Amino acid sequence: MKFISNKLRIENVFVQNISKKYGTPAYCYSYNQLKENIDNFKKKFKSFSPLICFAIKSNTNINLIKEIKKFGLGADVVSMGELMIALKAGIAPKKIVFSGIGKTANEIEYAINKKILLINAESFSEIKEIERIAKIKKRQVEVGIRLNPNTDAKTLNQISTGKKGNKFGVSDKIFHELVKYCKSSKNIKLKCLSVHIGSQILDHQPYKKMLRVVDRIIKKVNYNFEFIDLGGGMGISYENNTKKLNYNKYNTEIKRFLKNKKSKIIFEPGRSIIGNTAVLISKIIYIKENNNKNFIIIDAAMNDLMRPALYGASHRILPAIKKNIKSKKLYEFVGPICESTDKFGAIKNFQELKEKELIVICDVGAYGMSLSSNYNLRPKPVEILIKGSKTKVIKKRQKLEDIV
Ligand code: LLP
Repeated sequence: MKFISNKLRIENVFVQNISKKYGTPAYCYSYNQLKENIDNFKKKFKSFSPLICFAIKSNTNINLIKEIKKFGLGADVVSMGELMIALKAGIAPKKIVFSGIGKTANEIEYAINKKILLINAESFSEIKEIERIAKIKKRQVEVGIRLNPNTDAKTLNQISTGKKGNKFGVSDKIFHELVKYCKSSKNIKLKCLSVHIGSQILDHQPYKKMLRVVDRIIKKVNYNFEFIDLGGGMGISYENNTKKLNYNKYNTEIKRFLKNKKSKIIFEPGRSIIGNTAVLISKIIYIKENNNKNFIIIDAAMNDLMRPALYGASHRILPAIKKNIKSKKLYEFVGPICESTDKFGAIKNFQELKEKELIVICDVGAYGMSLSSNYNLRPKPVEILIKGSKTKVIKKRQKLEDIV
């Protein structure tokens, strides 16, 4: 994404032209950014060639998943719907892992039928449920157990998952008991230890701590895991000049961890693969000055992009056309929804804007469209994929007739 003669362009297509053709709000993805992210991710960890399972929850668009599949990635799914879409996109079952604390009998049965790589279980009850279903089917099911390593990911509280009080994974004590249980079960084959300490992690230290805990527990339980699933969580820069995750250090720590082990590493990245590939194009409906505040009321809202309302997350906002004007303003960007949290942030020194102009909200590829809803009975936006000069609708804008 670049300004060319002051006009914002995604690959070779100007934002203005996208809006003319497809309307707003519109999610717009760059194919080449996606390709670059995947290539980089692979390069960073190439010395131990991990199995990279894209976290489907971060983006459930089947056309994007098909592209991701072509780069050889597998999938991390957390529901029957996600498992179905991963399979429908052509991802091989043996590249799919199933996480989540509340898999129902239906979901477990479906996963067993599809012969996926691993069901990562998160409790004693779940292991017993998998065993019960496997027995009926006269099958031996390959599983992982998710450990809660009690490690602070140093990220937003709402997206932290590896601390003692969180609902995810099991404590070392239960982990130990589960290993013993699985060893004696005919229908369960324990193959994996999994962890995921949180999302939007920008510091390698929590990963380092997590690896130490995992190493310690492996020694304690004295079991050879064919796979170690380290989850995802690698953060991206939502603002200019923010800290970046040091992949080299994370890579070094994993290599150290792998010494004297034959395990294959699995990653479940979502945001780091898809986060910076998309923008949300939106049009200014009204500008309202009220009590010394300048509200820019845009046609995208919290139902289209939930992250700011849900986590207080901030996303860069850019004008579609840069103007060479001196006058700068403090603007608060808000959506039309009847909630005070329906806002995308206040920005100082923004170029003066006018009604009907376009703005883009950046880095919305992950947990953007996948978290969208029909709140206020608003139709979901169109999704467009750009590759060079080509644009393709990869999901149509919802029609009001379909939701009313
Ligand atoms: N694996 C597991 C078990 C997960 O729970 C998650 C994310 C991932 C992998 C992928 O994490 P990533 O690489 O994308 O950080 N809606 C929030 C993020 C929630 C993340 C939930 N789990 C947001 O918009 O920031």
